[in-house]
Amino acid sequence: MNKVIISPSILSADFANLETDIQKVESYGADWIHVDVMDGHFVPNITIGVPVVKSLKKITNLLLDVHLMIENPQNYIESFAKAGADILTFHFESVDNNLIVPIINKIKSFGVKAGLSIKPKTDPELILPYLNDLDLVLIMTVEPGFGGQKFINYCAEKIKNIKKNANNDLIIQVDGGINAETAKICKEYGANSLVAGSYIYNSNDIKSAIESLR
Ligand code: DX5
Ligand code: ZN
Repeated sequence: MNKVIISPSILSADFANLETDIQKVESYGADWIHVDVMDGHFVPNITIGVPVVKSLKKITNLLLDVHLMIENPQNYIESFAKAGADILTFHFESVDNNLIVPIINKIKSFGVKAGLSIKPKTDPELILPYLNDLDLVLIMTVEPGFGGQKFINYCAEKIKNIKKNANNDLIIQVDGGINAETAKICKEYGANSLVAGSYIYNSNDIKSAIESLR
């Protein structure tokens, strides 16, 4: 049985106590730490950037799963890689198609895993040509920008299409509105990496919340 990778999103953590909040999920069995980078242009919200990733690298052994919701991601790959990102996922909608393969190659040239993400309204067919180059596909199950939104069912159905066309090594990740119930739907469709922010961090029992996603 393949293990499901749980990646808590620190967007819902306490930014004044990131170390404590990361250690909590680490001790309760989280696999990765999901870091949401937003620029106020690609999405209508601003979060954190390279210096925070650099600091997080010093305080956790978990892989840093960095989700770039920014314009011109190609300009920031090197900085995030050098800061300690282990996975760099950028958005299909944020770049011209002819840049996608070069950006994937650039990410990989730093020994970092490369991910490509699609927003709710993006047809999964559009990213099929890149699956063989990618380590991870991130299917957004909410509009990117904010935590705590409601899971969009039709987005999860895209998992089936990706799964059907991917090789077994491709990690299929979902992000947005993930809880025990929606995690089950996504896993049935073939997702093997789950991002969850508010469900984990707003829970009174973080350990059970993480376990309920597996
Ligand atoms: C949203 C971010 C998510 C966010 C998910 O744009 O990409 O990672 O933290 O939050 P929840 O799990 O609360 O929907
Ligand atoms: Zn995210």
